[in-house]
Amino acid sequence: MTSSPSSGSPTARGSPLTRLVKRLSRKLSPANSHENLAVLAHLNNHHDEPAELIHCSSTTGSNITFDPHKYHSIKRLGKGNYGHVDLVESNGYKFALKEQKTKRSGFTGEVDLYVKVSKAGDHKNITKLYYASSSRHKMGIIAIEYCEGVCLDILHGSLNEMQIRHIVRETLSGIAFLHSLSIVHRDIKPDNIMITKTGEVKLIDLGMADDMSIHVVDDPCGSPLYMAPEHINCIDHPHPYDAKVDIWALGITCIELATGYIPHSEIKRTEKLVMAVTLGGPPTLSLMQREHKHPLFFDESFHDFITSCLTKSPQDRPSAQSLLEHQFLKPATDQRELNSLIDLVTRKMDEKR
Ligand SMILES: Nc1ncnc2c1ncn2[C@@H]1O[C@H](COP(=O)(O)OP(=O)(O)OP(=O)(O)O)[C@@H](O)[C@H]1O
Ligand SMILES: [Mg+2]
Repeated sequence: MTSSPSSGSPTARGSPLTRLVKRLSRKLSPANSHENLAVLAHLNNHHDEPAELIHCSSTTGSNITFDPHKYHSIKRLGKGNYGHVDLVESNGYKFALKEQKTKRSGFTGEVDLYVKVSKAGDHKNITKLYYASSSRHKMGIIAIEYCEGVCLDILHGSLNEMQIRHIVRETLSGIAFLHSLSIVHRDIKPDNIMITKTGEVKLIDLGMADDMSIHVVDDPCGSPLYMAPEHINCIDHPHPYDAKVDIWALGITCIELATGYIPHSEIKRTEKLVMAVTLGGPPTLSLMQREHKHPLFFDESFHDFITSCLTKSPQDRPSAQSLLEHQFLKPATDQRELNSLIDLVTRKMDEKR
């Protein structure tokens, strides 16, 4: 294998091997599995007809509704390998509309997972779903809560420990909620975490996620540099893993937020990366700081939090729920630090305009 772990978007789904494995492993849930959804569902079993799921205002507790027949685009927010995300307006409200034009087996999966999260009552750290439509031909759209802010990848290396604590606590809370629903995100990284101009932290992109209550996860979907040893090993040998892969990815994310560098990013060949992650010692914050001459002092509890996340054995790696009790996350968010974080987000948004 000669693929690169970080070429273009560092996501493994794009490789032919991954696509093949993904196609084989992802089983679409049957249309009638939506029967009890707390959403207004116009479902049918015709193969060519779209399955439409439209939120009732009563389930979201607000009047915010998205009208799929009446909306206009304001600007493009992002473009991925399989589709794009636009800022749109409908009924006077703004939404992020993720549209999948090309065929890809995972998209109906993303719709189903957003619906599952929605049915469970939503979570403050996961973007809310307002409308979803997917066809059995794997094309569709989802309208989700628009986050007016920036992705963390443009803030990495410019955050202090207290700001990172706020971001990590909120992200981990979103991850714990997903795990409580048997959903593994599989693409936790700064690009998939947004911070709004009011300081809210939101996990986005369930494009790589999967429902462990439906089937065993054993495929290498995700971004190689953030993959846990048991996850990246699936590139060569599919093998069941669980939600703990998100905890490893969070540990790598912490190092990146603190130093601006991702461990092993200098390794260009995937097979070398697999060896480094599976056979080598886990990355640590001190090692990365030494390697990149990063001068900031970080508290021992932050080093320990990262070390816990980057425990090589998934059995010994703590769960999201137990990590929420970690010493590093004990101090409450400092309002002054939150304000300076908000200033930073606003500055970055202005620069992007
Ligand atoms: N709810 C949202 N609010 C604001 N911007 C968003 C939102 N969702 C996504 N975006 C923007 O669009 C970009 C792409 O979104 P997302 O991560 O969901 O897609 P992707 O990485 O292309 O997806 P996939 O990996 O499923 O192909 C994000 O990096 C972000 O800049
Ligand atoms: Mg993404």
